[in-house]
Amino acid sequence: MAAPSMDLMVSLCKRRGFVFPSSEIYGGFASTWDYGPLGAELKRNLKQAWWRRVVWERPDVEGLDAAILMSPQVWVASGHVSSFSDPLVECKGCHHRFRADTLEGPNCPNCGSAELTEPRQFNMMFKTFVGPVEEDAAVAYLRPETCQGIFVNFDNVLNSARPTPKLPFGIAQIGKAFRNEIVTGNFTFRTREFEQFELEYFVHPEQAEAMLQEWLQERLRWYTDLGIDPEHLRLREHEEKELAHYAARCYDIEYRFPDPLGWRELEGIANRTDYDLRKHSEYSGHPLRYFDDSSGEYVDPYVIEPSGGVDRALLIFLLDAYHEEEVRGRKRVVLRLHPLLAPIKVAVFPLKRNQPELVEMAQDLARQLRPHMRTIYEETGAIGRLYRRMDEVGTPYCVTVDFDSLKGQTVTVRERDSMEQERVHVQDLLGYLRKKITW
Ligand code: GAP
Repeated sequence: MAAPSMDLMVSLCKRRGFVFPSSEIYGGFASTWDYGPLGAELKRNLKQAWWRRVVWERPDVEGLDAAILMSPQVWVASGHVSSFSDPLVECKGCHHRFRADTLEGPNCPNCGSAELTEPRQFNMMFKTFVGPVEEDAAVAYLRPETCQGIFVNFDNVLNSARPTPKLPFGIAQIGKAFRNEIVTGNFTFRTREFEQFELEYFVHPEQAEAMLQEWLQERLRWYTDLGIDPEHLRLREHEEKELAHYAARCYDIEYRFPDPLGWRELEGIANRTDYDLRKHSEYSGHPLRYFDDSSGEYVDPYVIEPSGGVDRALLIFLLDAYHEEEVRGRKRVVLRLHPLLAPIKVAVFPLKRNQPELVEMAQDLARQLRPHMRTIYEETGAIGRLYRRMDEVGTPYCVTVDFDSLKGQTVTVRERDSMEQERVHVQDLLGYLRKKITW
């Protein structure tokens, strides 16, 4: 089915507790969003699915969790102080601001005026001051990309990880990044505060091209393994003029967002060459190189960087999972989220809430499942209605305790997508569910 509209997704997210407008009781705060109870679970699961695939399942990647605030010299060396800017134009009529490079024509897209200011470069880093005095010497920046924490820790990881990493090897990190974007919007697609998952994969320079191609395929596979329709993804190589100041080559994995957004970047995969290690070596005076035991020589590794946005990924998993279908003459809304990502793994209901034995057994089962997976107990509605509520938030399994459960210690397990039901012995329930919710 066609992707749901962004408005529909915003409304579902608010109503069911995935994403709320931030500071809503004060009228909101431009393009900032808070993850509600279900959104927080989904985001944790998504980050864990990335970490597991990129770090745990590989013998050649280590994790890192670096500080958001770093020495301001980092951003001078990385080129962000001089080059991390967008061309800003302002309409002299309505005073709306735009990125000059995204304007389609000479006029203001808001009011049609032809009177626009000349473009001026606007640095997107958020500036702040460390300590009580707001002076130039105390300037610090909120990091605009997480990867610089990886580059400056290159030696620390190399010297501490055991066994000692050998090229090619990677360092992975998930964390917040901040950009003072001129134009934000489309829900969580473009915001000023967001989260990234980034891998810096260090390689011998001559391996860079082959590794770039490998990572393109691996990252596409990660999205499709977790349920994204391959038809909704494509690769697009950057033209020369689009390349960031550090990149020799870059591809975007694009996702087909609902109209009018259309195909847009989901994740970038770049060959950053040895740019960052070289610059930090130069500016810090601390050489960041790799000693190759086999040749007895120092190497300046290139880096392949798959860099994705957690918020953008979360949005596409929701959009892609959304389905409407007709079941027995009624509309069913179902989020077909991969069980690994689903915020609630299992919901337990008593068939009738006015039957204390059923209630007691269902509550007891929920209590036993809780330490192992996100479980909820619900009794406020007829079973059909409870199923529909759980379908709408993507819960893959619903367990119902009925009168046969009291006699035979079996329960009904209903699967979200097929709506098929199976009787499972209470003793086997945990193992049964565990098997179903991993990949
Ligand atoms: N270290 C490389 C880097 O930061 P990028 O293409 O600028 O590359 C990587 O950002 C990913 O971060 C993007 O593909 C996108 O998913 C996410 N991202 C970037 N800016 C964003 C914003 N303003 N709001 C939400 N996500 C953003």
